[in-house]
Amino acid sequence: MNLSQTILGTSFENPTVLASGIMGITAASWRYAATSGAGAITTKSLWPFEHKGNRNPTIIATDHWTLNAVGVPDAGPEKAREEIGDYLKDPPVPLIANVIGLNAEEFASITREIVPLKPHFLEVNLSTPTFVKLRGKLFAADPGEAKEIIKAVKGVAKGIPVFAKLTPNVPNIGEIARACVDAGADGITAINTAGPGMAIDLRSRMPILATHKGGLSGPALKPIAVRCIAEVYEATEGKVPIIGTGGVYTGEDAIELLLAGASLIGIGTAVGERGITVFQQVCDEMQFWCTNEGVWDIADLVGAMHKELKARKMELGMRPSL
Ligand SMILES: Cc1cc2nc3c(=O)[nH]c(=O)nc-3n(C[C@H](O)[C@H](O)[C@H](O)COP(=O)(O)O)c2cc1C
Repeated sequence: MNLSQTILGTSFENPTVLASGIMGITAASWRYAATSGAGAITTKSLWPFEHKGNRNPTIIATDHWTLNAVGVPDAGPEKAREEIGDYLKDPPVPLIANVIGLNAEEFASITREIVPLKPHFLEVNLSTPTFVKLRGKLFAADPGEAKEIIKAVKGVAKGIPVFAKLTPNVPNIGEIARACVDAGADGITAINTAGPGMAIDLRSRMPILATHKGGLSGPALKPIAVRCIAEVYEATEGKVPIIGTGGVYTGEDAIELLLAGASLIGIGTAVGERGITVFQQVCDEMQFWCTNEGVWDIADLVGAMHKELKARKMELGMRPSL
């Protein structure tokens, strides 16, 4: 049973990817995730300057969902260069550098800092809910703005593949994905957190998070991630790789995202719930499922739902008659 794939020239031993923002920004923490089974590592979002996060409490976790409002804290490019440089001296698995800024020049500036270190991929965070607080809207909510940022990053990426990270909080994620690909994106990451949501402490009658609202992740996000990945795959005609992310806890969750069109599977919130060995557990569970189903290569699963719909001459979004 083959879990490995080569995507845009980079080999991945398995499809699991540590999602952005989940473990600190140190080479040691990325190596720890890699030796615990992750097939690739994504850094947290890197700003072109030091960026302070929000006040505590910033996270609430339940069995079904997590709300976070950490606010994308970052120590700045010097620390990022040091840690990424250290990791990339001898990387156990590929590294995806996630970049962020408040305008095209800021995105280009942090990308210029990171590119000489030669990360395997760049991921452009167009979709953190923190953008709403800082600039009133998400870049990923507008095809024109998303295009402008992707063009700016591509202009300085020196051939490193660029993934655009999208939000589920739009009525047209397929259109946004197509705009990013038109602007030169080599792949799409779908999705960032949804919402935002809110939780209220019954006794104090106050919102629990200090910032009141937070992005939703974890199991409740998975059906939205599956639908978004399917729409992105259809809109881009399966021509660019998708890092599917959202609510993956088990091997069967990962298989579902592959069927929708993902080639790689981001795992975030589940690291806190199932522990760092979640990557190995998900791979073992995928192997088990594939062996039972007679699937010998996971590449055969990527986008398989679309092939099934086509064979039945149905389109995504069409209701089957009951
Ligand atoms: C605590 C926390 C911090 C996050 N920080 C970032 C970040 O810095 N950049 C980013 O692109 N996504 C960030 N995300 C979003 C995740 O990478 C992921 O897209 C989302 O949580 C959905 O996946 P999951 O359900 O597996 O967690 C963060 C998520 C959480 C829970």
